[in-house]
Amino acid sequence: MTSNRKDDHVQLAAQQQRQPAAYNQFDDVSFVHHALAGIERSEVSLVTHVAGIEWPLPLYINAMTGGSVNTGAINRDLAIAARQTGVPIATGSMSAYLKDESTADTFSVMRNENPDGFVMANINATTSPVQARRVIDLLRADALQIHLNAIQETVMPEGDRSFGSWSKNIEEIVHGVDIPVIVKEVGFGLSSDTVSALQKMGVRVMDVGGRGGTNFARVENHRRSQADYDFLDTWGQSTPACLLDVQGLGVTVLASGGVRHPLDVVKALALGAAAVGVSGRFLATVLDGGAPALITQITVWLDQITALMTALGARDIETLTRCDVMIQGDLRAFCVDRGVD
Ligand code: FNR
Repeated sequence: MTSNRKDDHVQLAAQQQRQPAAYNQFDDVSFVHHALAGIERSEVSLVTHVAGIEWPLPLYINAMTGGSVNTGAINRDLAIAARQTGVPIATGSMSAYLKDESTADTFSVMRNENPDGFVMANINATTSPVQARRVIDLLRADALQIHLNAIQETVMPEGDRSFGSWSKNIEEIVHGVDIPVIVKEVGFGLSSDTVSALQKMGVRVMDVGGRGGTNFARVENHRRSQADYDFLDTWGQSTPACLLDVQGLGVTVLASGGVRHPLDVVKALALGAAAVGVSGRFLATVLDGGAPALITQITVWLDQITALMTALGARDIETLTRCDVMIQGDLRAFCVDRGVD
């Protein structure tokens, strides 16, 4: 059942990429153009810091898959692309490995193909600290992602329906492992209340994982005999909305969810993200053209991110947060509702 589910997720998420929405809330963010702001390209640095660790690049391949033969092959391609471009990478949820050790290779391939890269393991919020240490050991992981996915579980035909233990469990994991823990959503967003609560549990890095890209309410609805939950298609906060909502809370924030191109990356960095994760868009590239296509895409993106920062006059990620941005449309309405300046 688990491996079929993993294969379903890949196919359904890729389908969403082939029919992209005309609009997402990154379109409500624009830079004020200052014609004399530009600097020398050689002055721009992409270096960033996550959990006190220096990342050479502010872009990463976010959690997706593993647990079946097909998804193991995808993980190999993703890992090769990470190795060749130097971007950090996360595995998909490793619950499949915790249930069935014979799936180990489909995850460990990400470390074997990328021995010196920054690799993040991924678990759900019901995993015990002992299990968390097992997945970390398998991958020699540099950080541990814990995903929060209550809406996905609700719509998933075979999903969990009990979420009451998550907070206590996250706290135990944070204190039970010796690498940084990153808590992330899977496309419905983290609110400022959630981020503050996680902060109290000792979590220092959070990936807002907002709405706008891969939509797991729609993915799981497709896996039902009837689309019983199609009213949840628009649930959650977009990635730029989350970034604005959590500003000033003093945590390291990562952005993912609905990132389509280098301009979205630069906008997310300007709104305060320390780095930006991409799943669906990179998955579609790997399915169409394998690791070589993803290496080309990431190389082009990094080049264009540098070019945009040059034109904006941002020598580093920190300076980018001081660029003038305008917020319009639904995103502006969200800011007014939430009292965000
Ligand atoms: C995901 N995502 C995900 N997240 C997670 O924490 N654990 C997981 O196992 C998975 N599985 C998964 C499978 C597939 C096929 C996709 C496309 C995505 C969610 C992912 O990390 C990310 O939060 C969302 O996909 C939103 O980002 P994009 O896809 O809009 O860039």
